[in-house]
Amino acid sequence: MKRRDFISASAAASLGLMGNASASQTKQDHLKDYRGTFSTNDNQVAVYTRAQVKPTRIFHITDTHLSRDDERGEAYQEFSARMAAAYTSNAHFQSGESYSAEESFELTLETVQKEKADFIALTGDIFSFPSEAAVEWARQKLDATGIPFAYVAGNHDWHYEGMTGSSHELRDTWTTKRLMPMYQGNHPLYAAYDLNGIRFVCIDNSTYEILPEQLEFFRTQSDQALPLLLLMHIPIYMPGRSMGHGCGHPDWGEERDRNYRVERREKWRKGGHAKTTMDFCCEVFETPNLLAVLAGHTHRQSLDIKNGIPQVVSQYNAGGYYADIHIEALDT
Ligand SMILES: [Fe+2]
Repeated sequence: MKRRDFISASAAASLGLMGNASASQTKQDHLKDYRGTFSTNDNQVAVYTRAQVKPTRIFHITDTHLSRDDERGEAYQEFSARMAAAYTSNAHFQSGESYSAEESFELTLETVQKEKADFIALTGDIFSFPSEAAVEWARQKLDATGIPFAYVAGNHDWHYEGMTGSSHELRDTWTTKRLMPMYQGNHPLYAAYDLNGIRFVCIDNSTYEILPEQLEFFRTQSDQALPLLLLMHIPIYMPGRSMGHGCGHPDWGEERDRNYRVERREKWRKGGHAKTTMDFCCEVFETPNLLAVLAGHTHRQSLDIKNGIPQVVSQYNAGGYYADIHIEALDT
């Protein structure tokens, strides 16, 4: 797959190339039939869709927790030290051998190339803190594969522990100052990428919250006559799941925040999620053209299904894990 075949949907939209498929009648007529079957086995996922797509193989990579740093990060060590010492040795999910986060990432990208994947979906905590050296290194490694990718941030990618500022302020600051190479010219908080008739929609929910402009963007995407994959860091809460497994958990909020001290950040919002966040979490699973949600954050592999829409949460890539996802048109 050559890069020129890969179109940033955001760019296409700004050029007026995407057409107007937003009439609700179109949505009803064409979008309801997009989902076909879903199967999974170990780290393999197969999604068959009724939409006309080219067979597409996606490597879903999340939570690598890269912590490479250099002299540019020295002034920030009081904010990065704890996470810099984490994930230095991780048992590989298949072999059990010990690998550093960097080794795991390189090994995964070697597999991506060997297997001739079409797309890399990165769903956050690829970095343990916003290190320039780590971002440069990862971008270089990704570019060397020649395979298109999309990236959305996790709660660690932009977080310097103990730094003054709200989570939203720190995210705005460090996505702009450090993570921009990962967004390839797209908006850090919401973006869409098209490949082979599939739209990859990125929504940054790494503060556990959804902003009104993100909900608006998602609604626009859900009105398109294209099958979607939604990429986010934090999975959407399902009944019975824990607090960590849950953007949209009904009990989320200041009283239930256990990690604010160790992560040295502001406490979660008092009074629970904003209505926008709850609306988004409901609407995702009512989106007729959504094939699946891809997320990370928990570091554990899991699958939830709501209204026929699967939410695939992948294990952490610090241990070499990737989900090998095949999207194919159903033979109807
Ligand atoms: Fe993580």
